[in-house]
Amino acid sequence: MPRAWSLASRPQGMPKHTDFAMVDLESRDLADGEVRVANLWLSVDPYMRGRMNDVKSYVPPFQIGEAMQGGAVGEVVESRSADLPVGTQVLHMLGWRDEAVLPAVQAQKLPDLGVDIQAYLGQLGMPGMTAYFGLLAVAEAKAGDTVFVSAAAGAVGSTVVQVAKAKGMTVIGSAGGADKCAWVQSLGADKVVDYKGGTPVVKALTESAPDGIDVYFDNVGGEHLDAALATARPNARFAICGMIDIYNDGKPTELRYLARLIGNRVRMQGFIVSDYMNRAEEFYRDMGGWLKSGQLQRQETVHEGLDAMPDAFLGLFTGGNTGKMLVRV
Ligand SMILES: NC(=O)c1ccc[n+]([C@@H]2O[C@H](COP(=O)([O-])OP(=O)(O)OC[C@H]3O[C@@H](n4cnc5c(N)ncnc54)[C@H](OP(=O)(O)O)[C@@H]3O)[C@@H](O)[C@H]2O)c1
Repeated sequence: MPRAWSLASRPQGMPKHTDFAMVDLESRDLADGEVRVANLWLSVDPYMRGRMNDVKSYVPPFQIGEAMQGGAVGEVVESRSADLPVGTQVLHMLGWRDEAVLPAVQAQKLPDLGVDIQAYLGQLGMPGMTAYFGLLAVAEAKAGDTVFVSAAAGAVGSTVVQVAKAKGMTVIGSAGGADKCAWVQSLGADKVVDYKGGTPVVKALTESAPDGIDVYFDNVGGEHLDAALATARPNARFAICGMIDIYNDGKPTELRYLARLIGNRVRMQGFIVSDYMNRAEEFYRDMGGWLKSGQLQRQETVHEGLDAMPDAFLGLFTGGNTGKMLVRV
């Protein structure tokens, strides 16, 4: 019988294992136009934490007791759609489960770019697109710019580092711990800030970028955002991608340097990756090319088996991943 993770209770603060429960899914016959997909890889992403709260957002909240959703790649094992015959590899949003039944129109056939299919949950998928368009379209980063990116050892951040280097920028990445910082540097970052190293981020960033930064790619919020404001050059652009620092406790952020926006004419813009889906072709061309040629390194942290989904998810908030956090079913 297919199984899925559901939300047993809405987490208060950092989620606990008891907030999750495995449920059996009804195994039913396919209707016309539907496919059955054996999920092979499942994604856990920080935005899912927001869906665990009962609040209105750009994605609806998960319902207690119902199978959760998220990115997944797998193979069609039964089909009543001519568009997706048995054996087709697809990406879809019925993750957190081992098997998915869905209309074929809600599954995307994976383009054949000659890379492992789990890459479509990372660099060739939502996080990669976020990095690519956040940096190049939202922040309008260009060759010669100095870019600061937080959570630089994560899925989005490590891609930002590498895209920025491929496009001729100077990059400062921040991550938690010496090992992660060394890895970020191995990706090409010119300087790294270990935000767990005991030095305030603003001091470490000022030392790393004595002439200031042109672009900040924010994955964290809080102290990182404040440090970026303190070091912003005139006409700096901030792409506000995420604020993982406040996802669990929603604590207010103290921004001592906020007023620097004014004198330095800083532009700060939030964005959602789906705004750029209509430009997927451009993304696949560049990112697929860089990945195939080896110019872009791909790193994954893999948890084994559906049972490990909560562990993988919780690990996002304690720095348990280097590169993309994934579960192999
Ligand atoms: N706007 C959009 O459309 C969009 C799309 C995708 C992702 N996002 C956002 O992008 C960010 C990164 O997502 P991702 O999928 O690439 O996750 P990720 O970076 O692979 O994983 C999260 C990382 O965040 C770091 N972290 C956790 N808590 C932190 C804290 N309090 N302070 C500083 N760092 C912390 C951890 O690394 P360390 O070990 O370095 O602490 C952890 O590995 C998230 O904020 C996410 O919500 C936005």
